[in-house]
Amino acid sequence: MNDLKLPLKFRLLHWGVAFIIILNLFILEEGKQIHRYLGYACVAFVFIRLLISKGRKVSHYNEKAKYVYWLMWTAIGGLGITGFLMGLDRFFGNQLLEDIHEIISNSLIALIVAHLGGVFFDAYKNKRKTWLLMFTGEKFK
Ligand code: HEM
Ligand code: HEM
Repeated sequence: MNDLKLPLKFRLLHWGVAFIIILNLFILEEGKQIHRYLGYACVAFVFIRLLISKGRKVSHYNEKAKYVYWLMWTAIGGLGITGFLMGLDRFFGNQLLEDIHEIISNSLIALIVAHLGGVFFDAYKNKRKTWLLMFTGEKFK
C-alpha cells in the first residue's frame, strides 16, 4: 500500500480501539453489560483491521513497532475470549478466567505504555511528528 496518507479507515479503527480500551480499563464498571458490548466491538475492530489489510503491507507504520501491535491485537482477542467464557453458565464465577482476563488487561496497559513511549521516542530520534500519523495521516509535516 503506497498511499502517501494513512487511509482514514485505519485512523478511525485506531481511535475506536484506543477509546474503547481506555473506557474498559479505567472508566466503566468492570464486567457490566456496556463493558461487554464495547469489548466485543473492540474485538470486531481488530478483525476489520486484519481484513482490510489482508495480503497488503501497511507501510506507514514503524517496522520495529509491529510486535507491539501484534501483541496488542492478540491481547484484545484474549480479553474477548476470556470475557465470553466468563459469561457462560458453565464458567460462572470462575476465578481462573477472571484472573486471566485481569492479567491480559494489565499486560495491555504495559503495551500501551510501550506504544506511547515508542511513538515519542521515534518522534524525538527521527525528528518528525510521529503522532500526527494517527490524526492527519502524515508524519513528515
Ligand atoms: C477491550 C477489551 C477489554 C478490556 C480492556 C477489558 C478490561 C477489563 C478489566 C480491567 C477488568 C477488571 C479486572 C479486575 O480487576 O478484576 C475487566 C473485568 C471484566 N470483564 Fe473485561 N475487558 C475487555 C473486554 C471484555 C469482554 C469482551 C467481556 C465479555 C463479554 C468482558 C467481561 C468482563 C467481566 C465479566 C469482568 C468482571 C470480572 C470480575 O468479576 O473480576 N471484558 N475487564
Ligand atoms: C489505548 C490507547 C492506544 C492503543 C490501544 C493503541 C493501539 C495502536 C495500534 C494497535 C496501532 C497499530 C495500528 C494498526 O495496525 O492499524 C497503533 C499505531 C499507532 N498509534 Fe496508537 N494506540 C493507542 C493510543 C495512541 C495515542 C494516544 C497516540 C498518539 C499520541 C497513538 C499514535 C499512534 C501512531 C502514530 C501509530 C502508528 C505509529 C507507527 O508505527 O509509525 N496511539 N496504535
